[in-house]
Amino acid sequence: MTISAQSIFDGLLPERLSFRSEADYFAPSNIALSKYWGKRDKELNLPLNSSLSISLHKWGSQTKISVAADGRDQVRLNGEAVDLEQPFARKLIAFVDRFRRGQNLPLNIQTFNSIPTAAGLASSASGFAALTGALDQAFGLGLPKDKLSMLARIGSGSASRSFWHGFVQWDRGQLTDGRDSFARHIDVQWPEFRIAIINVTSKPKSVSSRDGMNHTVATSPLYKVWPEQAERDCADIGAAVQDKDFSKLGTLAEANALAMHATMMAARPGLQYLLPESFTILEKVRELRADGHEVYATMDAGPNVKLIFLQSSEDDVNANFPQAQIIEPFAAL
Ligand code: DP6
Repeated sequence: MTISAQSIFDGLLPERLSFRSEADYFAPSNIALSKYWGKRDKELNLPLNSSLSISLHKWGSQTKISVAADGRDQVRLNGEAVDLEQPFARKLIAFVDRFRRGQNLPLNIQTFNSIPTAAGLASSASGFAALTGALDQAFGLGLPKDKLSMLARIGSGSASRSFWHGFVQWDRGQLTDGRDSFARHIDVQWPEFRIAIINVTSKPKSVSSRDGMNHTVATSPLYKVWPEQAERDCADIGAAVQDKDFSKLGTLAEANALAMHATMMAARPGLQYLLPESFTILEKVRELRADGHEVYATMDAGPNVKLIFLQSSEDDVNANFPQAQIIEPFAAL
């Protein structure tokens, strides 16, 4: 039996919605230390493996919702009106419609992304999380975060992890309806933990993560080994976070990212998001380690490289990567 994504919303929302209050919700962006790559159910957006991320502090999306005075939906991004036919607005409205289910509730939806465009980071994770949180407020639903995470997951998998600061784990779950596939906060504070974004290009990616992972699962002979390895990496990275074992965490996170890229390079035709500049950065990271500096790298569906290190390596990172944008995930907000 196939379960529709709409039935998940129907099961969590009251039949009739009404606008309760203006909403204003912030969700941080996140970077996976143990990656989600591949779906076991495309309709419900269920992953083949669990993943673990670190949230990017103040970098994320802020979504405000109010009643549309003229009775027509309005979408604004960073202050600018967006045509409702644009892909960004269409995706957003399609998600809002999963809540409204035909009810006449026109909304004014404004999203502000604090992620510097130059960082070339995807904003779909924080975007869907902030939208879900703001809809919950606007309609006075009072859903707990695990349910918000589950609904945002249907918009974009990585959005399930954007409801908390710090470390977050998205458990793959076992149930066919995905009721057990949502994220949870890991209660570990690590003030010395740092992330640096090294921008290689801010051009939009040519293949979306969604298309890239579907193509990898369908055609890559190396994908056979990924789900099991990724599940193990996620558990081991989780243990390294609990033990604050930075060498173990960094080693595993870098290996996990490289393994994900290996599965997609082996897809047919091959898929490669990394550019020569990305490999040059990776080489430099290896050299830094050979000199005794504990710096590790991770890369997502794009050529930019993210470094992970501790405060004690901040000067080395600045000296070797003057263009790096350093984030302190545990700084006061
Ligand atoms: C490489 O969450 O963007 O960043 O669920 O299809 O919207 P969809 O995919 P998305 O994929 C993120 C892939 C990744 C790894 C990760 O964030 O775990």
